[in-house]
Amino acid sequence: MRNLDENTITQAVIERNEKIQDDRLRHVMASLVQHLHTFARDVQLTEKEWEKGIEFLTAVGQICTPTRQEFILLSDTLGLSTLVTAQNHKKPENCTEATVFGPFHVADVPMVDLGADISNGMKGVPFYVKGTVRGVDGEPIPNATIEAWHADEDGFYDVQDPNLIGCKGRAVMQADSNGAYHFKTIMPECYPIPHDGPVGKMLEAFKRHPWRPAHLHFMLSAPGYERLVTHIFREGSNYLESDAVFGVRSSLVCDWVHHESGVTPYGEQTGKPFVTTEYNFILNREKN
Ligand code: BEZ
Ligand code: FE
Repeated sequence: MRNLDENTITQAVIERNEKIQDDRLRHVMASLVQHLHTFARDVQLTEKEWEKGIEFLTAVGQICTPTRQEFILLSDTLGLSTLVTAQNHKKPENCTEATVFGPFHVADVPMVDLGADISNGMKGVPFYVKGTVRGVDGEPIPNATIEAWHADEDGFYDVQDPNLIGCKGRAVMQADSNGAYHFKTIMPECYPIPHDGPVGKMLEAFKRHPWRPAHLHFMLSAPGYERLVTHIFREGSNYLESDAVFGVRSSLVCDWVHHESGVTPYGEQTGKPFVTTEYNFILNREKN
């Protein structure tokens, strides 16, 4: 195959890839090449721009470590994560909506009892969270696995602390026999996504801010139900309308009720402020 030009190169690449054995991979690659080339034609990409793009992607790769995933930040800030989440989690209207996973989840965190304080010494106002896990027909999901993780009052996750020992502001628990859950932690605040790398530079160049509204991450699972990765957001938080990663859904915004003092949900009298919230999750049935 010789003398390929701007009109024939796309089909040539697609044909060269025709021997890909896996049908799905062949289809995805043909579409990717088609769209990539269409993009370059569309904007009449210059050589300088192509070089800049390569430099940018190289920098994105170079800053990645096991705890710094710049490609996820890039996907999130370009809205790709929200698009992929939305098209893969179409479900009945009453189900709890999914949102972005983010880069701060940690696998294999310890299992705690219901009611535990998962803050493990993290800084912030005491926060009491409770609710239920049910299926679409309203059936309680006994023993559903509930994983929660969140930032502290300064907007940092435990894994962003280089001196961290153990884990803070994250845990796995199991709902009780009625699908109910509750735990104590501290109230997470708004925070900027890591913006000291190429994605941060990109946001700055585009006159975009890196902030996320205050939220708590959840991952819920139970046999026979679709796994749900989601957040709950604080009603009234800053950035609900301009989340840097496009993750806010109205159905996930709930009241985080401030109490100046009084009796906590755990029956303790306190002279200090605390916050309470309740969120009831509805899981979709697993697809066969
Ligand atoms: C997060 O909420 O943890 C997050 C999501 C996307 C990018 C950065 C952080
Ligand atoms: Fe987060």
